[in-house]
Amino acid sequence: MANEAPLVAVIMGSKSDWETMRHAGEMLARFGVPHECRVLSANRTPGALAEYVSKAEGRGVEVLIAAAGGAAHLAGVAAAHTILPVLGVPIESPVLKGMDSLLSTVQMPGGIPVGTMAIGKAGAVNAALLAVAILANQRPELREKLREFREEQSRMVLAETVP
Ligand code: RP5
Repeated sequence: MANEAPLVAVIMGSKSDWETMRHAGEMLARFGVPHECRVLSANRTPGALAEYVSKAEGRGVEVLIAAAGGAAHLAGVAAAHTILPVLGVPIESPVLKGMDSLLSTVQMPGGIPVGTMAIGKAGAVNAALLAVAILANQRPELREKLREFREEQSRMVLAETVP
């Protein structure tokens, strides 16, 4: 997958976000979706972020996943630089447990949308699954894989036993 042009770009504000965002990467890999993961910050690398996001569409990227914690500007700033769909993942921050990340990612003024996921690992997993669903609109093989994923998930839940 490393050699294929990425369809999904996963960006995060800090390497410290990787422990959460690796779950998005793993889910995309499970579906065989070419993707790349980068650390880019709205605050600490604003120029590099703008350049990367502005060029993403021209490189064939179809969905951006942007994760950040605290005063989480990353997804909103990324969305300002592209018309690609941007999915925001609020990282669970140590002080406010991700409520800060959630509110600063979700509360976009009307006009520039960010599809905001749940805080933390669930958000990372769901961002990848939603990206797959978006790509699946034009790719029947991905649609089929998504159906199989749901069926397997249902089978696993139904097979659960409790003491
Ligand atoms: C945000 O600040 C990052 O997305 C990260 O969640 C948070 C803390 O960053 P580090 O101090 O760990 O680099 O920009």
